[in-house]
Amino acid sequence: MKECLKLITERRSITFFDPNREIPDELIKEILEVSATAPSGYNLQPWEVIVVKDKNKKKELMEICYNQKKVEEASANIVLIANTRAGFEHVDKVLQSWEELGYIRPEAKEALKEQIITGWQDPQRALRKAIRDTALFGMTIMITARAYGLETHPMEGYDEQKLKNFLGIEDYKVIPMVIAIGYKNPSKELLPRAYRFKFEEFGRII
Ligand SMILES: Cc1cc2nc3c(=O)[nH]c(=O)nc-3n(C[C@H](O)[C@H](O)[C@H](O)COP(=O)(O)O)c2cc1C
Repeated sequence: MKECLKLITERRSITFFDPNREIPDELIKEILEVSATAPSGYNLQPWEVIVVKDKNKKKELMEICYNQKKVEEASANIVLIANTRAGFEHVDKVLQSWEELGYIRPEAKEALKEQIITGWQDPQRALRKAIRDTALFGMTIMITARAYGLETHPMEGYDEQKLKNFLGIEDYKVIPMVIAIGYKNPSKELLPRAYRFKFEEFGRII
């Protein structure tokens, strides 16, 4: 319990990564698969990732991220992609799994598919769903990474169109954030964590 709380409360956006440390592909994949246990509406998992690890590609990505140095210094950068057509593209796999596991009867499948797809027809609604679920996945990545001794830094500072062109991402997909991942540079200190609103400032219990 204490350890779990520490993973959350001691997470920081790491500005200084150790540029000399690499992460094996297998470890990145493990972190991402653990993180993919994150929840999503109807379990549709509307997220995709492209992990930018190659030295030259990181340099190109850094320029697209308005020259944020951490992009180059981090061991890798996870580009999070939200698929606004996931409702259509993922529904069959989800329903098949539900049928196999006994969540639903085979004859209920078609009506449920119709219901799920309806929710993704309006582009604004689909965008919200895709981004909401992908952001939950992103947060889970940041906590999971710490459980493996790694640190992260989420970023929204990039030219999205340039990033899409660079990675060949379809127009109907969006990029909610890029997460730099790696090991903190032990010779650098972060400033203390900045102010967090107190419960009375952001919430109420009724
Ligand atoms: C979606 C998102 C986008 C962010 N984009 C950037 C960014 O482009 N550059 C940057 O230096 N920090 C970025 N940050 C980091 C925030 O500034 C940071 O989380 C906040 O100041 C709190 O600091 P902490 O994460 O160390 O607690 C981003 C954070 C989030 C959640």
